[in-house]
Amino acid sequence: MLPMNPNKALWEKGDFTRIAATMRESGEALVQRLGITKGLKVLDLGCGDGTTALPAAKLGADVLGIDIARNLVEAGNKRAAKEGLTNIKFQEGDASNLDQLPDKSFDLVISIFGAMFAPKPFEVAKEMVRVTRPGGRIVMGNWIPNDPTFVAQLLKISSNYTPPPPEGFVSPMTWGVESNVIERFGAAGVPAKNISFARDTFTFNFPGTPSALVDEFRKYYGPTMNAFEAAEKKGQAAALQKELEELFNSQNKSPDATSIPATFLRVTVVRSQT
Ligand SMILES: C[S@@+](CC[C@H](N)C(=O)[O-])C[C@H]1O[C@@H](n2cnc3c(N)ncnc32)[C@H](O)[C@@H]1O
Repeated sequence: MLPMNPNKALWEKGDFTRIAATMRESGEALVQRLGITKGLKVLDLGCGDGTTALPAAKLGADVLGIDIARNLVEAGNKRAAKEGLTNIKFQEGDASNLDQLPDKSFDLVISIFGAMFAPKPFEVAKEMVRVTRPGGRIVMGNWIPNDPTFVAQLLKISSNYTPPPPEGFVSPMTWGVESNVIERFGAAGVPAKNISFARDTFTFNFPGTPSALVDEFRKYYGPTMNAFEAAEKKGQAAALQKELEELFNSQNKSPDATSIPATFLRVTVVRSQT
């Protein structure tokens, strides 16, 4: 039997579709701004169950969604079938090794909080550039380390309760630092002048209270599930629950449900014509 891939196990744990359900409006709004036209060939890397892939297909693009988590690939294919979309397909794959995809085959590669979670960031940048056609674009959404808004704080609190990662582990949050992005794409042959950055916002909308949303993360979101498992072993689960409830409540903007904005770094890379 092959050894377990911890990156895959993390995202197959729980059920990310429960969290993705709170991200649909922002996913769709982001895709609307990408200038997608009919027949554009789009790769959505770390696509989950299709928060951005489905809206891209609805705009007429030919979409391939790749994700490491088998359950999310299945969920994406089911959502596409339910919507009657025939121009989109989800399949399993690893952003750090896209061997199954030919060079220069996509006009647009999207990865919204997806590829940032793959190990080997230099390989990820190389693969994204390799499969993009000359003149094509890569758009990444990356959470920003130490940002005061929701997701960065959630991941920071969660990691405070989780055992330290193995030696050599590169934090996904390093993708939220512009100099790292320039270095990684630079090593893949992209000059810095072809890379641009903007701060953008994703809003998590949930029809219950902020505390009920904490419960969703505790039950269904791999990184938070791991943090609770580790905290329980040390008798710290109540402290973690309290910290998260304070975070979710303090960042909530809705008077009668939950609506929490989170800042992220939007990266746009243009692959040179040559
Ligand atoms: C926070 S979720 C975001 C999903 C989706 N892009 C969205 O916005 O809803 C992170 C996704 O990245 C995927 N992922 C993590 N590591 C990956 C890897 N090495 N290759 C491909 N996908 C990966 C996870 O399975 C998960 O679906």
